[in-house]
Amino acid sequence: MKKNINIAIIGLGQIGIYLYNELNTKKKTIELKTGKKINIIAISAKNINKKRPFKINKNIFYNNPLQIIKKKNIDILFELIGFSDGISKKVVEAALKNKIHVITANKALIAKHGDYLSDLAEKNKVNLEFEATVAGGIPILRSIKEGLSTNKITKVYGILNGTCNYILSEMENSKDIFANVLKKAQKLGYAEPLNPRLDLNGSDAFSKIRILSSLCFNSKISKTKCLIEGIDNIDIKDIEIAAQLNMRIKLLGISEIINGQLFERVHTCLVSKDTYIGNVNGVMNAVILHGKPIGNSYFQGEGAGPGPTSSSLLSDMLSILRGNIKNPFVITGKNRKFLKSYNFNNYVNSLYLRFEVKDKPGVLSVITNRLAEYNISVKRLIQTPNKNKNIASIVIITHKSNESNFKNCFSAFKNNKNILKPITIIRLYNE
Ligand SMILES: NC(=O)c1ccc[n+]([C@@H]2O[C@H](COP(=O)([O-])OP(=O)(O)OC[C@H]3O[C@@H](n4cnc5c(N)ncnc54)[C@H](OP(=O)(O)O)[C@@H]3O)[C@@H](O)[C@H]2O)c1
Repeated sequence: MKKNINIAIIGLGQIGIYLYNELNTKKKTIELKTGKKINIIAISAKNINKKRPFKINKNIFYNNPLQIIKKKNIDILFELIGFSDGISKKVVEAALKNKIHVITANKALIAKHGDYLSDLAEKNKVNLEFEATVAGGIPILRSIKEGLSTNKITKVYGILNGTCNYILSEMENSKDIFANVLKKAQKLGYAEPLNPRLDLNGSDAFSKIRILSSLCFNSKISKTKCLIEGIDNIDIKDIEIAAQLNMRIKLLGISEIINGQLFERVHTCLVSKDTYIGNVNGVMNAVILHGKPIGNSYFQGEGAGPGPTSSSLLSDMLSILRGNIKNPFVITGKNRKFLKSYNFNNYVNSLYLRFEVKDKPGVLSVITNRLAEYNISVKRLIQTPNKNKNIASIVIITHKSNESNFKNCFSAFKNNKNILKPITIIRLYNE
């Protein structure tokens, strides 16, 4: 690789602008560590006049990022726009086809088009790096690709969305309701101000789980949607009852191989306060890997924000500058296969169920009788009446059964006029 390296940054939002400043202030360190001199020769965003925390050089600004690829001699391009399709996909495609190394923080793009884009990178013998797509500043992808590369990994799971983890932790600390804590998270910059839906409904964590599975299990990125649930139905009552049980609610992303089949999911879990994962709080992310011969490995750190994300983007860049030219998913696209999906209906688990019901005789027995009919036994039952409103919350912790049996059992509750809301379901997680 030549000595002087030309850089383009596409997207000057939260991440792009911070990275722009980091690259400018760390030029010397980068040269010391790699022997390469970097120069930002092109930048792009939608609006040149937008107020930004760092001054940008307007002489190198382009409205249309595709023009940069046509007109400039770029070696490394950072894609920091976001979204799985549209201009970000076009820019990455065009860059790879023009033999430009690409570094992206865009998990939606990689989770959806990662296989296709990685084939393009392989064909053109350039890098497509995406460390920043999973768990912010935690160098989890590089650890899987390099440090743990000969381990047989059978399971990867963790807290992959800092917004959700902050909201759940803050509801417990402040005893405040979901809507108020979400507003607080938005004020602090932990949740998207306009549309936090993708964080809250589990989609963001699921994109990360797909990328992790693919690297851990040397497989193509899965296309099936197994189970994606978020935290939007969690009530302060659930947080309080979990605390009574010495537990916490966490949104976990989990991927494992069961009988040679891939089982990927994102959903809320009740975890014991005595476990490692039960003590990862606030905006922190954590990833746990089960590998052979390494055993369990634990990674924890800040999962989002410009600082941690830039740290990962820069580590990708330094890896390229050191000449580490390699396949995006380590092994070639040809050797990565689709794994058969595990049938979620067979998954056996204990559940936490919260029913909101009319407080009148016979309602509880209708619920427990139906559970008994399906051989679902009750481990714990907590009933909290609200005498003023004539309603009650009934929380039941079940013994283990499979998802299909639970589904069939609960179907009867939908049309029961005494059950006022859809059941809140939280799965119990045993580490
Ligand atoms: N924020 C985080 O903590 C975080 C963490 C990890 C990964 N990421 C990922 O990093 C990426 C960027 O996130 P962000 O938070 O920085 O987003 P952001 O603040 O919304 O910034 C997006 C940037 O893209 C620019 N843009 C939009 N359309 C464009 C177009 N057609 N041509 C050129 N530029 C265009 C915007 O221009 P204007 O500035 O003119 O509007 C803006 O500068 C996303 O993929 C995200 O998932 C973010």
